[in-house]
Amino acid sequence: MTRDERQNRPAAQEERIVPMRLQRFLARAGAASRRGSENLMTAGRVRVNGVVVTELGAKVDPLVDEVTLDGVPVRLAERPVYVMLNKPKGYLTTMSDPQGRHCVAELAPVAQHPGLFPVGRLDKDTTGLLLFTTDGTLAQNLLHPSRHVSKRYVALVDGVVRDRELEPLRRGIELDDGPCQPARTRLLNESEAADVCPYGIPGGKTCVEVIIHEGRKNQVKRMLGKIGHPVLRLHRSTFGPLKLCDVEQGSWRYLNDEETTALLKAGSL
Ligand code: URA
Repeated sequence: MTRDERQNRPAAQEERIVPMRLQRFLARAGAASRRGSENLMTAGRVRVNGVVVTELGAKVDPLVDEVTLDGVPVRLAERPVYVMLNKPKGYLTTMSDPQGRHCVAELAPVAQHPGLFPVGRLDKDTTGLLLFTTDGTLAQNLLHPSRHVSKRYVALVDGVVRDRELEPLRRGIELDDGPCQPARTRLLNESEAADVCPYGIPGGKTCVEVIIHEGRKNQVKRMLGKIGHPVLRLHRSTFGPLKLCDVEQGSWRYLNDEETTALLKAGSL
């Protein structure tokens, strides 16, 4: 990651890159407590760029200076990264594909952030919000059924759907792999359906909102298929507390501080 890229990251994801006091740097890097770090310095065990530093006011630039403790390099750990991708259709939710098909990894900043991976999956033809993170524990928590992280989908389906036809989804429809939890679902009007029908809802088709808390394979398509309305287009607009906004299709952005805090909360409840 370049210095410029680091500076564009929001504070919640950013280690302080400005010069900092050496004892603070040591404490942040986990070498010792702040007081313990001062003791390491006054004992002459800490070097900056090869020179012993005992002065407690000394500062270091973590991006530039090489700090060692007893000759062993000390570095700040990278903080986890959280990225929102607006997935276009035609991309597999995978980091690589042996058949050379397009993968979401091509669209996310994986070179800057080794270990970045998608949280859950969207089908190749599904568009919308796909979260990436380097934080494996958070990802595991967000995907665990007990967390009940909600996801909102907008589907364009074949046929004219009456509201009462959505009742089985609201009750919890039975699929091949077992019953679904009750979903929140409603019919959408033209202005609410822009994500899947930017030029209006075609005749003989309907737009439906489906909010689920599970993440089974092809779940929304199978739910709507089961009531006789196959999905023609599918878009995810929310994932837990995150809403897809301020990111063009095919682009990504870092979560801002507020989003990061809300996401960590959703993953820790
Ligand atoms: N449900 C589906 O059927 N497909 C997706 O991509 C996501 C949810």
